[in-house]
Amino acid sequence: MHNEYLPFPSKILDIIEHTDKEHTFRMEYQGDVKPGQFFEVSIPKLGEAPISVSGIEEGIIDLTIRKVGRVTDEIFNLLHGDKLFLRGPYGNGFDLDNYRNKELLVVAGGTGLSPVRGVIDHFARNPEDCKGLSLVAGFKSPADILFFADQARWRETIDIILTVDALDCDPGDMVCEIGLVTEHLPKLKIQDYSTAVAIVVGPPMMMHFTCLQLLDLGFKEENIWISQERKMCCGLGKCGHCKINESYVCLDGPVYNYTQGRYMID
Ligand SMILES: Cc1cc2nc3c(=O)[nH]c(=O)nc-3n(C[C@H](O)[C@H](O)[C@H](O)COP(=O)(O)OP(=O)(O)OC[C@H]3O[C@@H](n4cnc5c(N)ncnc54)[C@H](O)[C@@H]3O)c2cc1C
Ligand code: FES
Repeated sequence: MHNEYLPFPSKILDIIEHTDKEHTFRMEYQGDVKPGQFFEVSIPKLGEAPISVSGIEEGIIDLTIRKVGRVTDEIFNLLHGDKLFLRGPYGNGFDLDNYRNKELLVVAGGTGLSPVRGVIDHFARNPEDCKGLSLVAGFKSPADILFFADQARWRETIDIILTVDALDCDPGDMVCEIGLVTEHLPKLKIQDYSTAVAIVVGPPMMMHFTCLQLLDLGFKEENIWISQERKMCCGLGKCGHCKINESYVCLDGPVYNYTQGRYMID
C-alpha cells in the first residue's frame, strides 16, 4: 500500500549562500512542480519543515531556507552531495495563466521573494508573455538581500525597485532605495491599474498594508494574489494544523486570490 507520508531522498547538488542564515539548496528532483508549491523537507529522527520551491530547472529544484530552529539548523550542517528527504510537492502554487498578457506587479518582502522567484524568472525570460513586469523587493538591510545575482539579470527585462528599511552597511554595487515597499509603490509605471495584476508575498503586516495601498491605487481586489505561510504538519489536508476558517492552507493555498485571502492575513 502506498504511504503518502513516506519521503524520498534527494541529493544536494549545490549550496548558494545568500546570507549567514539564508542559503539556497539546489536539489535533485524529477517530476512536475509549480512556483509557490512547497515540499515537506525532513531529516530522519529530527523532523520536517515545509519549504517553498524557489527555482525550477530540468531535474532540479531550489529550496531557499532560513536557519531558524531544530530542522533548519541541522540542514545548514549538510554539505554538497549529502541527502535530504522530501515529500511533495504540496499546495496549489501560482497559476501563470492568471498573469499572462497582463501588466504584472510583484511586491515581495524578505524571504517572500523565494516562492515567487519562479514566476518572476518565467516572465523575465519570456517578456512577450506579459504586458510588462515590475518588481518591488524589500529587505531589512543590504546584508539581507536575497537573489542579488538574479536581480542583476532580471533588470535587463523588468523594472525593479530594490529597497531596504535602513542602510546600516555598505550596499556595494547594489542600487537600492531606502524605505518600506509601500513608500515606493506610487513610483511604478503601471499603464492601467484597473486591469493590472499583482502578487504580494511577505510578512503578514507587509501584505496587509501593500494590498490596501494597491486597492487605493486602483488595482481590483480579484486581480491581487497573496501567499500565506502557516504552521503545517501533514501537508495533506488531514491534521488540521493549517486550517484558517474553512480553508486548509496546505491544500487550497498557500496561494490565494485576495478576495478570499484578505480574510486570512493575520
Ligand atoms: C507553505 C510554507 C512555505 C514555507 N517556505 C519556506 C521557505 O521557502 N523557506 C524557509 O526558510 N521557510 C519557509 N517556511 C517556514 C518554515 O517551514 C519554518 O521556518 C520551519 O518549519 C522551521 O522549522 P525548524 O524546525 O527549523 O524550526 P523550529 O525549531 O520548529 O522553530 C523555530 C522558530 O520558527 C517558528 N516556526 C516554525 N514553523 C513555522 C512556520 N511554518 N511559519 C512560521 N514560523 C514558524 C517557530 O515558532 C519558532 O519560533 C514555510 C512555511 C510554510 C507553511
Ligand atoms: S498541514 Fe495538516 S491539514 Fe494542512
